[in-house]
Amino acid sequence: PYVLTDRGIFRYEQVTYPMEERGLQFGDGVYEVVRLYRGTYVWLREHLDRLYRSAAAIRLSVPFGCEELIEQLEELRRLNDVQEDAILYLQMTRGSFPRNHAFPAENRPNLYAYIQPMARKTEEMTHGVRTILTKDVRWEYCYIKSLNLLPNVLAKQEAVERGAFEAILHRDGVVTEGSSSNIFLVKNETVYTHPATARILNGIVRTKVKQFCAELGIPFVEEAFSTNDLREADELFLTSTTSAIIPIIQVDETVIRSGAPGAVTKALQAAYRQATQ
Ligand code: PDD
Repeated sequence: PYVLTDRGIFRYEQVTYPMEERGLQFGDGVYEVVRLYRGTYVWLREHLDRLYRSAAAIRLSVPFGCEELIEQLEELRRLNDVQEDAILYLQMTRGSFPRNHAFPAENRPNLYAYIQPMARKTEEMTHGVRTILTKDVRWEYCYIKSLNLLPNVLAKQEAVERGAFEAILHRDGVVTEGSSSNIFLVKNETVYTHPATARILNGIVRTKVKQFCAELGIPFVEEAFSTNDLREADELFLTSTTSAIIPIIQVDETVIRSGAPGAVTKALQAAYRQATQ
C-alpha cells in the first residue's frame, strides 16, 4: 500500500516518524476520516474544509491548497487501486522539532494519509446497537478535530468493556455527543441533536442528516437534551463517517421502545443510502 505525505507518495514501509514529532509528544495536530464506498470518496470536500478549519483553530497553516490536496488524494486512491468500501485517515501535525511546548519558529507541518478497507456496518445498521452513558470530561474546544483523543479513547473502552458499541457523553446530564459519533433523539416525529457549538464536533454526517430531514419534511431541532430525555425517546440513533446512521436500541439498562429501529431512523438511513450510491 501507498501513503501520501507532505513530501509525496511513498510505500507504507518507507514511512517512519521521528521521535520528536509534535503529534506524538503533544497531540499537536488535527485529523480527518473520510469514507469511500466502492472506491469513491464520499463528501471529500466537506471533510477537507473541516480540516482547514481545524488547522486554523490551532493556528496551523496548511502548506497546500484544497485542490492540490484533492488531486494527491485521488492519486493515492488510484495507486492503491481501491475498489471496495474503505476509509481514508489523514492527519496533519505541527511537525517535528526539538521538544518545546511553544510553537517552532518554522511552519513545517507533517502530513500523512492512507486508505484502509472498512466494510459497512450492516449488522449494526439493521438491528441497532447498545450504548452506555459516561461523563464528558473533554476540553472546551471539541469543535476542533484534534489528535487529543484520550478522553474519547477511555470512554469507548468503557463502552466496549460493558458490551456496548458506543459511549454517549454528557455534561451534568446534558448529552453532547458520542465518543466518536453524533447523537440524535426522535420524539413525536421530530429529530433533536445538540447544537453545533464548541462542545461537539459538527459531524459531516450530522450536517447531511440535517439536509435529509429538510428534504423529507422531518422537523430538525438543534437543541440539547438530557440523559433523562434519552430514556423517554421514541427513537435514538448515532452518526459518523465510519458508522453512517446506526439505530441505538439501549442506553445503559434502558431498552429504547421495543428495542427495534424506528421509522424516522429508517427513513434517514434510506436517504443516506440514496445520497451515497
Ligand atoms: N469520528 N464526534 C466525534 C467526537 C467524532 O470523533 C466523530 C467522528 C463525529 C462524527 O463526525 P463525522 O460525521 O464527520 O464522521 C462526531 C471519526 C469517524 C473518528 O475519529 O474515527
